[in-house]
Amino acid sequence: MKTSTVSAPGKLMLLGEHAVVYGRPCIVTAIDQRMRVTVEQTDKNTLVIDAPDVHIFGYEKPIDTLGSGDIPRGAIFVEHAVQAFYAKFSCTGGVHVSVSSEFSSQVGFGSSSASTVCVVQALAQIHQKKILPKQMFTIAFQGVLNVQGGGSGFDIAAAIYGGTIYYVANAKIVEPLSFSTMPLIVGYTGIKADTSSLLREVAEKMKAQPEKVNRIYDAIAKLANDAKIKMIEGDWERVGKLMDFNQDYLRDLGVSSQKLETLIVAAKQAGAWGAKLSGAGGGDCMIALAPDDKKKAIESAIEAVGGQVIHIAPGAQGVRIEA
Ligand code: PMV
Repeated sequence: MKTSTVSAPGKLMLLGEHAVVYGRPCIVTAIDQRMRVTVEQTDKNTLVIDAPDVHIFGYEKPIDTLGSGDIPRGAIFVEHAVQAFYAKFSCTGGVHVSVSSEFSSQVGFGSSSASTVCVVQALAQIHQKKILPKQMFTIAFQGVLNVQGGGSGFDIAAAIYGGTIYYVANAKIVEPLSFSTMPLIVGYTGIKADTSSLLREVAEKMKAQPEKVNRIYDAIAKLANDAKIKMIEGDWERVGKLMDFNQDYLRDLGVSSQKLETLIVAAKQAGAWGAKLSGAGGGDCMIALAPDDKKKAIESAIEAVGGQVIHIAPGAQGVRIEA
């Protein structure tokens, strides 16, 4: 019976969230906190999942019923990833999947997409399928779409390719950006964002006021394009300003929150070049860019208003086979 262990990084959206769902570019970075998945073949015709971080212990499902019925939240992405892979390659046989994470599933670092990518890579190794990153993207994206119905796939691309990437959905453009160390600070609001409902709310706004929303998205696209150039030049002060503008547009779109705004204002008053929410909004994390000598003061300011600073390094390696 074969076994494979794979890890993949979490992510942070730097610029372009929401607009990327509607064809505009975004910039995402993979972070040095990883999901880790071990897949073992079994002699039963079932999928068994252990994911203690999300309270899944010995969840078991016959292979031919994958994706149907009530699936617990903590198991749903893994189950759909296995189903998408099995459907693509007409696989048979049981597997035991164990999932663990270096970060909480509550902070919005993309645990679902990273674990989906790990499962696809581990199954590919077990079934001796040589799949290119593009193909891995297609299978993992299918798994994620089967669960959440929408999304740009930026988080899957970050988990597969790693680094910092300029991205256009659905992986039409995946352009790695290289530059000097990014002076990034991350503050968690303590509130879990509900990406699916925010996506639905924004879709309704797009239906009701397409001109306004498209204007916002075009402006965000321009910011993302400018930021790409400024990042490569290492002009982090300017990228910070562009993040501020991006935050203004996200606020207009209605996806910011009181807590996010409080953390953002605190970071800026303490000397950040710029700050914005990261991801769908409503909660999860804010990010800030700042000169090194202001970092400590900004972190204290974020904590003083009830945020939790999370230390991460951006630009981490993409999916990798561990054993
Ligand atoms: O909430 P997160 O971290 O999964 O980010 C969502 C970002 C969106 O642009 C709103 C959706 C997407 O799939 O691109």
